[in-house]
Formats: sequence, structure tokens, C-alpha cells
Amino acid sequence: MSRLIVVSNRLPSLEAQASAGGLAIALKQALRETGGIWVGWRGDLSEDAETPPETIAREGYDVASVKLSEAEVAGYYLEFANRCLWPIQHLRLDLFRFDDAAYEIYRRVNEKFADAVAELATDEDRIWVHDYHLISVGRFLRRKRPASQLGYFVHIPFPPAEVFSALPRAEELACDLLSYDLIGFQTQNCVDNFHAYLTHYLGGTVGPDGRIAACGREAISGVFPIGIDPMAFAEIAASSVATDALRQIELGAHRTAVIAGVERMDYTKGIPERFRAFQHLLQHNPSYRGEVSLFQVAAPSRMDIPEYQALSEEVDELAGHINGRFGTFDWTPIHFINRPMSQQAVAALYRASKIGLITPLSDGMNLVAKEYVAAQDPEDPGVLVLSRFAGAAAELTDALLVNPHDTAATADALKTAIDMPKETRIERWRQLMDVLQGNDIHNWQQKFLSALDAACQDLRQTPMDAA
Ligand code: G6P
Repeated sequence: MSRLIVVSNRLPSLEAQASAGGLAIALKQALRETGGIWVGWRGDLSEDAETPPETIAREGYDVASVKLSEAEVAGYYLEFANRCLWPIQHLRLDLFRFDDAAYEIYRRVNEKFADAVAELATDEDRIWVHDYHLISVGRFLRRKRPASQLGYFVHIPFPPAEVFSALPRAEELACDLLSYDLIGFQTQNCVDNFHAYLTHYLGGTVGPDGRIAACGREAISGVFPIGIDPMAFAEIAASSVATDALRQIELGAHRTAVIAGVERMDYTKGIPERFRAFQHLLQHNPSYRGEVSLFQVAAPSRMDIPEYQALSEEVDELAGHINGRFGTFDWTPIHFINRPMSQQAVAALYRASKIGLITPLSDGMNLVAKEYVAAQDPEDPGVLVLSRFAGAAAELTDALLVNPHDTAATADALKTAIDMPKETRIERWRQLMDVLQGNDIHNWQQKFLSALDAACQDLRQTPMDAA
């Protein structure tokens, strides 16, 4: 039986609870079924980075940790992945920086991951590489394991062709993607952008059923919107630990209607824009003062990168400014938590909130939006106000969709959500929940792996010359 080998930048957390219901759970299940291996980085700096990965047995599968030196982490993770690819793929041409030396390190680290996989895998194994840190793994792996089944999933957006073309070495990276048999994206929009890049900049072709050809290679591309396990998340929201946290939130909220925002502190998440929309609501609707509070959790993220430090300061200042301007002795407009919180506490916050305000400026999917829906009380659900720039907006059409750059319109949507009658909330929530159940994380994983099998069969049976 062919094993599954998952390859990602970060290894899943050791604490099972940290990822209950999420991507890690679904992938671990698939790994266990085949006695597979998860290859990734533990997130630390190694002094012996030249030594081969350490393999540890977990329940039913193995974990191989790739060791990275300080210089590798700086060039590959901090610089090229997170100061070049991340901003460009999230449409921030103003923030992206290209550094030749960092790009070389990125490629070398990708080769290192590929070497680790090649050592562990046989030609029969299915290899599934994840996210923007590891685009080039396929290219290096293909040289060593030409017959392997190679799949790649892009968790973040693929930007419009012209934006991607601004990236020096864009062509090389796009060709590297064609080393995989199957390339999966979150939305049709991302697939269209990728196809446009292939045809306009690489002279490639796009055939039926997502079959693409460029750089002398062929692959299959497709849309696989990632989901959650809605029932598992609903259980967490109803658990006793979450119930305790819920009581604390209710106490802190002083019977005001709670609006919740939860994410990593990242400039793609639109936190300042969201604060301004909330400020606009208070400014233009004095009757809401003392009646609504925004609970914002923003876990510190990538704090070694100056753009993240600057954002953190901006958000701090803005929260202080709004609270200073509108707050009273017995009401705090914005409750700002700048620390990571447990999954139970976050689930409790979703359940306690009349509104989930999820307004990224650009986002591959945004699973918080899906978790907010899953955590609701079916008898009295809250309303999801969602940015139309989140991948989730393509599926969650019964949310109130907003343009987060439009402060007044976002404030209006908040007003609509606060005043929405219960029957309408129940109706919308039911539709959203049906979407989540129809495409949960287990379906996602199964669909991708079946499509990988089909892609390999298709590509091997009718190669380019014969097609
Ligand atoms: C995004 C990326 C993930 C990444 C996560 C956390 O969701 O798509 O690949 O793991 O951010 O970022 P970090 O830099 O802490 O791994």
C-alpha cells in the first residue's frame, strides 16, 4: 500500500488539543491510515542543521523534523517566504522585498526538504506538499523520484498574473509548480489567476479538466476549498471548559452585544480597518454606545519582522484611541487581547458573540469564519460579517459580505447584523452550516488525494505528446 507523506513548513503541535478539528487532525487521520510520515520543521534553530532529519514515531505514523540553522531560518522563512512571497501573494506590492541571497537560501532549504523526503519515501508513496514556503520542493524531488505522485496545495491566495509577475524569479517558481502532478487552490479565482499567469507569461496552455502545460511539463490544477470539522468544533464550543470561558466573557461584556474578531496579528487581516469601522458605528449611532463591544483577539505572529512590529503598535494605539474617545467608567468599547488563546476560549468567544466580524483584506480561505459559524447556538445564532476578499466568501454567501476598505459600509453591515431578527439569523445560519457540513475537512483531504490519484493516472496514460 502506498504511504502518504505530508510535507509542510511547520510540524503539527505536539498537543493534540491544540489542533482538534483542524487541518492537522484530518492529515493525521490520513497518515495513520497508511502508516505515513509528516516531514516539517519544529520552528526552532539548530546548531547541527547539516545532520539528517530526526524521525520520531507517533501513534500510527512518523514525524521527521528537518533541522534549520539560524541563517536558513532568516533567509528562507523570515525573508523570502514571509517578506517576499507572503506580501506579494496577498497583493501587498508596497511591502514585498526581493533579496537574491534570501531566494538562494529558500531554494537550498526547499532542496533540503526534498532530500529528506527522497530519503524516506519510495516511488510508490504519495507525497503532499503544503504552502508557499515549499513551492520548489517538487522540482528537486522530481529529479530524485521521477515516478512519485506529487501533490501541492496552496493555502494562501494566488494573486492576479500581473501582480505575481512583479516577483523576480516568478517564472522559475511557476515552473517549479508544474513539477507537481496536482496543484490545488482554495478558490476558482486563484486557479484563474494561475492559469492567466501560465498563458500570458509562460506561453503555457490550459486544457479541459484543469490540465495545464508549460515549461515542458504537464500537471492538473483544481479547486479544493479547505473546510473544518464543524461538528467537532461545535462540541468544543459546548464543552464545560468553553462554558466557563463563556461566563467570563459575559461578565466582561456587561450585557453588551459582543462582536468578535480573532486572528494572528497580520497586516492581511484588516484589523485597523475593522477598528475604524467599529469607531464609525459608534460615532454615527450614539445609541449603540454602551450597548456593543468588540472583543478582538490578535495572537502575536512573526514578530521578528518589522512590518509585524509596526502593525502591532498601530493596532495598540488605535484600540487605546477608540477606548479613550468613547469608553465610560462601566463600558470598554474594544477588549483587545494580544496573546494566543486556547481553542476552548476562542470557541466560547464565538458562541458568546452576536457578530463574528472577519474582515481580512486578502485571505486564502479563513477558517475562523467557518469556526464562528460552527460554534453558534442553533436556537439563537449570531451573524457572520465577512470580507469578500476571504476565500471563504465564495462558499459562505449567506454571510453579510463586505468590502473591508469601505468603513461606512462595514459599519452599516454591523448595524444590519445587530438588528437582524432571530428568524433571519436562524435561516442564514442553517444555510452556512449546510455548506460547512457538505465540505468538511475530511472531504477536503479525501477529495485532494483522490484527485491526485486520478491526475497521476491521467498524466501517465496520456502524456503531453500523445494528448
Ligand atoms: C498561514 C500560513 C500557514 C502558517 C500560518 C502561521 O496560515 O498559510 O502555512 O503556518 O499562517 O504562520 P507561521 O509563520 O507562524 O507559521
